Parts: sequence; structure tokens; C-alpha cells
Amino acid sequence: MIDQIKLINSALEAQQKAICPYSNYAVGASLLSDNHEIIIGFNIESKAYPTTLCAERVAIFSALSQGYTNFLAMAVVTEDGASPCGSCRQIIAEYAGDIPIIISNTNKDYKETTTFKLLPNPFI
Ligand code: THU
Repeated sequence: MIDQIKLINSALEAQQKAICPYSNYAVGASLLSDNHEIIIGFNIESKAYPTTLCAERVAIFSALSQGYTNFLAMAVVTEDGASPCGSCRQIIAEYAGDIPIIISNTNKDYKETTTFKLLPNPFI
């Protein structure tokens, strides 16, 4: 059983730490590992704009670098409840598989979807 609100709260905390001086668009992500630990990520922007990394990929790369390899769910928080970008969908599909994705705004209005609904016929 996934506690969506707990995962959203972690993503909200992560969103507060976003480093986004160029867009001012803060994104927080939280990833639930199979042993029920939560790994967070936030967007980290670069002066060389395309070098920026999205919150979802920071969460996944951070988790992988810490030895987590299996994931149960991800939450993503933005001010307007936006969906993950295409590059993040690819990385989520590759490294987390078809998991529930909880997409929330900062008021915790959320919808739940899945990796493969966001990225049908993935290249994995
Ligand atoms: N961003 C994310 O963190 N995740 C997404 O899925 C889409 C976009 C970030 C990148 C950039 O720092 C800011 O949002 C504006 O595009």
C-alpha cells in the first residue's frame, strides 16, 4: 500500500530546496524504494541552461548512486501539478519500470498515473 500523501510531503520538502535561479520553477520529486525508504530530488539548474537536471532524474540518479535499485512509486510536485518531461519519463521507465506516478500541485491536489501511461511503448 502506497501512502500518497507521505510521498507528496517528501516531494514538497524537496521542492523547497530546488536550485532554480533561472526559471524560478521549483520541482520536487520523491522516490519510494522497495524497502520503503524515500529518496528525494529537486531540479538543479545550470548557468549553461541545457545542463540543468530535472528533479525526477536527480531523485533516480541519487537513489541509484546510493545503492537503491528497486522502486515502488514516485511523486512529483510543482506549483501547477505539471507532468514529468520526456527525458525524465525515459529514465523513470528504464530504472524504475512501470510504477505509480503521483503528480501533485503544492496544494496536494494530485492525480495518479503510471510510467507506461506517461510513456507508452518505451525504449527499454
Ligand atoms: N523540470 C523538472 O525538474 N522536471 C520536469 O519534468 C520538467 C522540468 C525543471 C527543469 C527546469 O529547472 C525547470 O523545471 C523549468 O523547466
